[in-house]
Amino acid sequence: MRAIVETVPSSKVTFAGIVKQFPGHSGEEPVYAVNKVSLDIEPGQLVTLLGPSGCGKTTTLRMLAGFETPTAGEISINGQTITHLPPNKRDVGMVFQSYALFPHMTVYDNVAYGLSIKPIPKSQVKERVDKVLALMHLDKMKDRLPSLLSGGQQQRVALARAVVTEPKVLLFDEPLSNLDAKLREYMRDELRKIQQRLGITSLYVTHDQAEAMAISDKVVIMNKGEIQQIGSPRKIYMRPCNQFVANFMGKANFLKAIVEQSDSRHIGLNLLGQRLVIPKDPIFEVKAGERVDCVIRPEFWSIDPEGKFQGTVERAIYLGPYVEYEVALGGQTVVVVDYMHHLHEPKSAGDLIRLGLSGQSITLLPPGQE
Ligand SMILES: Nc1ncnc2c1ncn2[C@@H]1O[C@H](COP(=O)(O)OP(=O)(O)O)[C@@H](O)[C@H]1O
Ligand SMILES: [Mg+2]
Repeated sequence: MRAIVETVPSSKVTFAGIVKQFPGHSGEEPVYAVNKVSLDIEPGQLVTLLGPSGCGKTTTLRMLAGFETPTAGEISINGQTITHLPPNKRDVGMVFQSYALFPHMTVYDNVAYGLSIKPIPKSQVKERVDKVLALMHLDKMKDRLPSLLSGGQQQRVALARAVVTEPKVLLFDEPLSNLDAKLREYMRDELRKIQQRLGITSLYVTHDQAEAMAISDKVVIMNKGEIQQIGSPRKIYMRPCNQFVANFMGKANFLKAIVEQSDSRHIGLNLLGQRLVIPKDPIFEVKAGERVDCVIRPEFWSIDPEGKFQGTVERAIYLGPYVEYEVALGGQTVVVVDYMHHLHEPKSAGDLIRLGLSGQSITLLPPGQE
């Protein structure tokens, strides 16, 4: 029996062409809750499904847990198909938003419960539960009832109960939604540390982009049952593949530009009357004369007296860590976020402002991906 606090050999999860259709209500069309989802979760990785309410995150998770059966496609763990196995044969642990603790049982008994249905000697149950309680800093409160614990402590009990069985995969469905903002940030870091320490392959569901970025090896952006983009948090933030992803993962300016020239490595763009050279994205081709859509994050602009772009401040909003400006620039309004505001005189509505922008900070959207 492997020890719970040591790194365990981890499992790979594969979704291949998963579809889940639910019958529509009284004569309505059927709903494709999940549509052609293919995804690999590498051993020990934490992968997050991120998207708006109703995009199919929970349904995807429930198909891995065995609570729903796919209409089409295969799910496997370490190459073995589990698509039609009942939940208790899959070796997955789940943590829910509602914690789902037993209110009449102590912390210890809640955690031990998961093991009580397995053929494990009592002495080993105690050893394993004690280890997990220590790992989660719950050892001092093991005789308490859940009602006497804070929300964060209850969530740790729920996590302890899921990991004590040493599952192949851990599933999280919006586990932090019931906590207030400060505690949510603290718990997400705790959770990530524990997941990395145990090395358990995990699938995590949230609609909170900051949470997804902070804890994930890989983020999967979903919309209307379909995957929009899969990548590291940085890749998805820096190089969104369409408007939906760019908007969902933070704020974005969408501007039109004209391609002036293109060679094997660079693209020369005319953006708001200024010439900029950007690195060529190998994924798609552009031709001179073409109009293209650019994505620029608000903080990628710099307030720079030498900057190429001159505009007029329409609105300035002071937010503490940064100032957000709406700037009229070449007939459009661009949002500019200034984290370096402590270095400049504050600007207000009506002021002229000069802005710099590096070609590296511009992402072109493939044609037809608006
Ligand atoms: N049991 C069900 N019967 C019918 N429709 C469902 C059922 N479960 C989910 N849906 C529908 O499937 C879609 C995806 O739901 P869900 O996976 O819960 O989304 P999310 O977790 O991203 O909010 C929604 O349109 C939802 O209404
Ligand atoms: Mg959900």
